Formats: sequence, structure tokens, C-alpha cells
Amino acid sequence: MEKLIVLVSVCLVTVFAQKFGFGSCPNAKPLAQLDINRYLGKWYEIYKFNSFFEINQECITANYSIKADGHIKVFNRGTTNGKEVSAVGDAYLPNATLPAQLAVRFATGAPYGPYWVLDTDYTNYSVVFSCEALTGLAHAEFAWILSRKNTISAELKQQLFQKFTDNGVDTSALKQTVQTNCSY
Ligand SMILES: *[C@@H]1O[C@H](CO)[C@@H](O)[C@H](O)[C@H]1NC(C)=O
Ligand SMILES: *[C@@H]1O[C@H](CO)[C@@H](O)[C@H](O)[C@H]1NC(C)=O
Ligand SMILES: *[C@@H]1O[C@H](CO)[C@@H](O)[C@H](O)[C@H]1NC(C)=O
Repeated sequence: MEKLIVLVSVCLVTVFAQKFGFGSCPNAKPLAQLDINRYLGKWYEIYKFNSFFEINQECITANYSIKADGHIKVFNRGTTNGKEVSAVGDAYLPNATLPAQLAVRFATGAPYGPYWVLDTDYTNYSVVFSCEALTGLAHAEFAWILSRKNTISAELKQQLFQKFTDNGVDTSALKQTVQTNCSY
């Protein structure tokens, strides 16, 4: 229960979208290699799982940059009813032999959650997945499609949805993020 509350508060702070499911996490396969330097910089959120709270957020972007301590600064921005909201998180690589399995958190003292890159070509798209077991009987999933541009082609969309499907992730809960009339 405590973990659920933490997840929910993380969700509120970070606009994390999540989906609860029964059973264990899908057997998703992160990339074997990830060049974090090429991954840094600005990404537009194009799709994500429906928010548990249906928070209406538009114009969501993330900017990843290296910090002095080698961790990654995560700067998320969005707008709610035209008002800008942002959150700063910290990400790092817990195990150097698993370079696409980052861990991220948005509040000091909060537990880190997984941030797995299932696929990226660095210059166009990234397919990100996160799943945590809650009690052994259930799990919480987070999923995002990020792009270097504020839109993706129908062809690329189909390819990236297929990537989720191939990883056992149900795409029916993916919802497109509004990226029009954004000021940044
Ligand atoms: C991303 O963050 C870095 C570090 O704070 C900053 O130098 C850079 O200008 C930012 N990029 C964008 C596109 O906002
Ligand atoms: C890092 O991951 C490898 C491969 O899964 C595993 O064998 C190793 O025990 C991990 N190291 C740590 C410190 O967790
Ligand atoms: C990916 O990005 C590169 C560099 O911006 C571009 O040349 C290429 O056409 C893009 N590929 C796709 C499939 O969008």
C-alpha cells in the first residue's frame, strides 16, 4: 500500500502515465546497448499510457542533460489549462552492464523507478517502458513514445506500437499527447 501511495504521488508530480494490471510485469526486453550521450537533449512526448487521474497535460517535453556527478538531469515540462508546469528528476544507471535500464526519480528520498529504453535511434524516436510489481499479484506499467520532433509519421507510429506489442506491452491504453499550439 505504501508503495502504491508513493507511485501515485510520483505520478502527480511528474505527470507519469500509468496502467495497473494483474499478474507480473510483461517480459519486456530493453536494448542491450545505449549511448547515453547521443540520447541526451530534448524529446517530445508523443504517446503515453492514459493517466490514472486523467490529468489534462499538453505540450510535454523532456530534456536530459549530464550532471557534474555523472547522473542525468531530467527536466520535464508541460502545460495544464494553459499554465506551465515542470518537474526536475534525477536518473542514473544502476548497473553499467545493463546500459538501457536507467532508474529515475522526481523527489529526493523517493524510490527510483525503472526507465527502460526498448528502442531508440537517437535522432528520431525512443520507446520507453517501466514496470514495477506492486504486491506480487499486480503491477504498474508506464509507457512513452518520445520523438525529437513534435510529431511522428503514421508509418513510424505503427512501427513503434509494434515494438511495444513485441515486448508484451498492450498498446490500447496509449494516448496521444497534444503537441499543437505549444510555445516551446
Ligand atoms: C537542456 O538542458 C540543458 C542543461 O540544463 C541546457 O543547456 C539546454 O539548453 C536544454 N535544452 C533545451 C532544448 O531546452
Ligand atoms: C548487473 O547485471 C548483471 C547482468 O544481469 C548481473 O549479473 C550483475 O549481478 C549485476 N550487478 C549488480 C551490481 O547488480
Ligand atoms: C531520422 O532522423 C534522421 C536525422 O534527423 C533523418 O535523416 C531520417 O530521415 C530520420 N528517419 C526517420 C525514419 O524518420
